[in-house]
Amino acid sequence: MSNVHVVDHPLVQHKLTLMRKRDASTSTFRRLLNELASLMAYEVTRDMPTQAVQIETPLETMTARVIDGKKLVFVSILRAGTGLLDGMLAVVPGARVGHVGLYRDPATLQPVEYYFKMPQEMGERDVVVLDPMLATGNSAAAAITRLKTLKPRSIKFVCLLTCPEGVAALQKAHPDVPIYTAAIDRQLNDHGYILPGLGDAGDRIFGTK
Ligand code: URA
Repeated sequence: MSNVHVVDHPLVQHKLTLMRKRDASTSTFRRLLNELASLMAYEVTRDMPTQAVQIETPLETMTARVIDGKKLVFVSILRAGTGLLDGMLAVVPGARVGHVGLYRDPATLQPVEYYFKMPQEMGERDVVVLDPMLATGNSAAAAITRLKTLKPRSIKFVCLLTCPEGVAALQKAHPDVPIYTAAIDRQLNDHGYILPGLGDAGDRIFGTK
């Protein structure tokens, strides 16, 4: 699959396995998600532009590289995307944050936006869209369609888990958006859950079930 980056680092795979376990507690699940998000942040920022600045070391002046974290926007798809935010911000503390809220219309099954709040000057920014589960792909595609109206410099999508159906749907809608994931599971079930998956990510993050 082109434009799909499976982050197969042993630490990522290990933590993901612990998260999948039915008996992982809410606090364990949340802690692992934070740690995984930081590891995913390394991958998704790998090609971020840097600029040269002059600094003083204790011994002499040198030219060194820095990134402009303020140009980066993490966009959380509510509510589960919020679970990835802290870990991402731990690595890129200067990043801005946007939120998109979507619900599924029970009649049409199409996503309907109920919340959208982004930082100013989106045209100068690189966007990383966050949602732990890329399942049907409907929410991710709708969020990205909306974000594109603001013409950001670039858009990437980060999840923990996806499946062939989710990848195909997002790539069909937005072939230009790279997908970063820790795993591509076997399939989507009839209720829109990923198999074998890890269950409902939102419920597991927030302890709502
Ligand atoms: N959302 C979840 O939280 N889990 C899935 O398996 C699919 C969508």
